[in-house]
Amino acid sequence: MKKWWHDKVAYQIYPKSFYDSNGDGIGDLRGIISKLDYLKELGIDIIWISPVYCSPMVDQGYDISDYYNIDPRFGTMDDMEELLKEAKARNMYILMDLVINHCSDQHEWFKKALEDPEGEYADYFYIREGKGNKPPCNWRSYFGGSVWEKIPNTNKYYLHLFAKEQPDLNWENPKLRHKLYEMINWWLEKGLAGFRIDAIINVKKDLRFEDFPADMEDGLCSIDKMLEAAEGVGDMLYELNEETFKKYDAFTVGEVFNEKEGELHKFIGKDGYFSSMFDFEIETLGKSEKGWYDNKEFTTNELRKAIFNSQLKTMDIGFKANIIENHDEPRGVSHCIKDEECNDNAKKMLGAISIMLRGIPFIYQGQEIGMTNNKFSSIEEIDDISTIDQYKLAIKQGLSEKEAIKIVNKYSRDNARTPFQWDNSDNAGFTTGRPWLVVNKNYESINAASQIEDKDSVFSFYKELIKLRKSEEFKEVIVYGKFRPMLEEYDNIVAFCRELEDKKIMIIANYQNEEQIIKLPEKFKGILLNNYESLEIEKDKVRLQEYEVVILEIY
Ligand code: GLC
Repeated sequence: MKKWWHDKVAYQIYPKSFYDSNGDGIGDLRGIISKLDYLKELGIDIIWISPVYCSPMVDQGYDISDYYNIDPRFGTMDDMEELLKEAKARNMYILMDLVINHCSDQHEWFKKALEDPEGEYADYFYIREGKGNKPPCNWRSYFGGSVWEKIPNTNKYYLHLFAKEQPDLNWENPKLRHKLYEMINWWLEKGLAGFRIDAIINVKKDLRFEDFPADMEDGLCSIDKMLEAAEGVGDMLYELNEETFKKYDAFTVGEVFNEKEGELHKFIGKDGYFSSMFDFEIETLGKSEKGWYDNKEFTTNELRKAIFNSQLKTMDIGFKANIIENHDEPRGVSHCIKDEECNDNAKKMLGAISIMLRGIPFIYQGQEIGMTNNKFSSIEEIDDISTIDQYKLAIKQGLSEKEAIKIVNKYSRDNARTPFQWDNSDNAGFTTGRPWLVVNKNYESINAASQIEDKDSVFSFYKELIKLRKSEEFKEVIVYGKFRPMLEEYDNIVAFCRELEDKKIMIIANYQNEEQIIKLPEKFKGILLNNYESLEIEKDKVRLQEYEVVILEIY
């Protein structure tokens, strides 16, 4: 059955870094409103806004102290309502971020829980007795250290899978769950189209709270071990959907990393818990369980394999949300293309692959102008809690400060969080004040203003890709067509076919810095898009230049 969101193109806004309307150095809701036309021009339909709720900002808004209000840094509820209204007037849809695995230690529920660790609110969290002088078990939090934090003057601990300022909410407690449903429905009533759902797989814990074998010198074990052992997340997610999203025909996209083998259909199949979930195949390539210092390079063939496997696995089940980057990752072009080869053609090529896959494209702010990783010169310039943890870990593992900062420059989440580069004026036109995070120095050459008018820019190419996705003639095949891998016998070529009934298109990306001659496996009908001015085709042979990507119609 067709859904309203199947043919949409989505865009993620990281509000703190998008556009600052009042000169305090922090992006805000009015800033977003003023850029809606820019996004409309690009072809965006759905906008996901990272958290703007009240928050102490220990984890940039992913630590919520009041779900019913807007943090004054970002504006007011009136601004939020105006944003909804202005989006609607442009046929655009707004998604908020739903962070319900945990809240902030400044949320009133948690304050009350601490005041009375035996009382009603204590049961909104996981509070457990320590084992002698030690925490209840040896799980490691995502941001390093134990998941348990001691409650002063007791031998009790509370659980936090993320930072200690982000206590986990007790989803076993029906009262808590219903409080959350109430809040979700309150927002949906306001006119939100849906949510991006944060860290949701973590809501189900292994309630035995027992040790697993340690996997590092700290004596702790990865939280993944616990997630593997926890059974029954599905019941919770099913109820969540029934009580909220389903009633509103909302679009939801889950941040799901560790679904169990063979369970994809439960998440995004017909009657799945969510409409969609992110495809993290590209993001997880080369990642080590030990930490960033141990990450490995990956080849184009590995990248191709990861994308193709995921497409094939998902095709008959549902629609994943395709990304090359987000606010938790380095910039996609920096992650997937060697620095010295990261030119506009390569950026366009990567964009074409991502936008033409089967699924819902999610563009992260700045991706459409080819923003790259930053060059942080020292850890002092970093704000992100997880980067600081990974930096320390790298130093502990024997890396020098210089080597550790190199790792940061490659993998830090702050690479994606530097302010949006609007133009070549001071601070890239992001703010008239002092930006909360350094602006990437390359803003004079990479910025939106210079690209909007330039028909050869990365921005214009993204616009063309989206236009093609939405064109009367090809939208059905691009949205609903099957995915079929092609030309896998060639190294460094990412090629695939999208086909529906008698319509067929083929995407061929020469993912390398050398030209390549390809034998076309199927008869060619016409060129739909190309990142070079011309294409050399002779009978069934095409010559592709460095990082050339072409989209062809074939018979
Ligand atoms: C998600 C968010 C990330 C945050 C974490 C904890 O992974 O995307 O930014 O740090 O959850 O809420």
